[in-house]
Amino acid sequence: MYTLAGKNIVVGVSGSIAAFKVAGWVSALAKAEANVTVIMTEAAQRFVTPLTFAALSGNRVYGAMFAADAGEEMTHIRLAREADVMLIAPASAQTLARLAHGLADDLLAVTTLATRAPVLICPAMNSAMYSHAATRANLETLRVHGYHLLQAASGVLACGEEGQGRLAEWPDVQPFLLRLVTPQDLAKKKILVTAGPTREAIDPARFLSNRSSGKMGYALARAAMARGAEVVLVSGPSALPDPAGVRVRRVISALDMYEAVLAEAADADVVIKAAAVADYRPATVFDEKVKKDQIDTSLSLIANPDILLELGRRKRPGQILIGFAAETRNLEAAGRKKLAAKNLDLIAVNNVKAAGGGFEAETNQLLLIGRDQVAPEALPLVSKDAAAHMLLDRVSWLFRQAARLQ
Ligand code: CTP
Repeated sequence: MYTLAGKNIVVGVSGSIAAFKVAGWVSALAKAEANVTVIMTEAAQRFVTPLTFAALSGNRVYGAMFAADAGEEMTHIRLAREADVMLIAPASAQTLARLAHGLADDLLAVTTLATRAPVLICPAMNSAMYSHAATRANLETLRVHGYHLLQAASGVLACGEEGQGRLAEWPDVQPFLLRLVTPQDLAKKKILVTAGPTREAIDPARFLSNRSSGKMGYALARAAMARGAEVVLVSGPSALPDPAGVRVRRVISALDMYEAVLAEAADADVVIKAAAVADYRPATVFDEKVKKDQIDTSLSLIANPDILLELGRRKRPGQILIGFAAETRNLEAAGRKKLAAKNLDLIAVNNVKAAGGGFEAETNQLLLIGRDQVAPEALPLVSKDAAAHMLLDRVSWLFRQAARLQ
């Protein structure tokens, strides 16, 4: 339900050197089990052959408006009706102009005009062309007409110039495409997610931390973005890239996280604390690296503030507060205790000793315990992405319940 699998995606490729990059995108979509149909403009076919896209998509590629073998079929109407979403990439200056003016003089333009599906446009061109007033005006017209636009990226362009005009990268495009085919049940909700470990400095070279990778929190941020939420991710040190369409605030220590989270939580509708915050920090942080012969073998620690506890104290009416608990035994009892102590609406208990459920794993098995009367829900062992959506299903349900009670 929350993937691109089975979706009909019409990819419109126009004439830009970046067309070759979209071959990789089509391959990724096919691997994700989407049903991809490619339409190429005449200019696109000078950069990449239709055979490339046919082989990668596993489907016939369309080019000519009046194909000799089309018979009585109106190809543009069929493709327009079948599409769940259209992706136009690369969108050249010429194609942007065509679409902005509603021209219907090639198969891509006429299909775009005929579809009722959402359309995502990814421009690519020389930076002077991209910043030209005519292109800016066309982009603005397209935005007003309800098209979804992704900005071109900056960097060295194929023409040798440096500037804005590069085709966006697939990891920045895929989340927006997914959002266009996902039910927007969390639209207009601000969801704050925390992820990753924190690092508690000992000296400039050393710190105390834990094994959290951030994968669960990042999956939650991506899933909430796909379902239409405005997402802020406060992340401790993690090797994971910033999820597209998510505002990311990177922090280091528990105290940094405390500040960022309390500031962002004030107007958040939902706060999900998936971060593994260090409970303690060294009592003294040395300005200079401590030499081994100076080191004291015992380290004295002081408690960090419990961010979730503080959020529970400050919780606004209607705000949904969700905690995580890493446990190794008595999962339900331990979860219930934390749920009550921290004034949470929901807690996701995680058996860190279970196979497939640990810190660095790609999968997770959560036990959801709500403050409502619903019995604890033992989720199956699934990917962290799927677990994230299951947890958000519960959030969505809580919103529906609250709306019913109003
Ligand atoms: N948490 C927090 N601030 C802290 C510590 C934890 O916000 N200083 C949050 C975590 O993000 C997580 C939940 O609290 O959502 C974990 O609960 P906690 O009781 O702190 O778990 P543990 O640290 O594992 O506690 P214990 O060792 O007592 O089981």
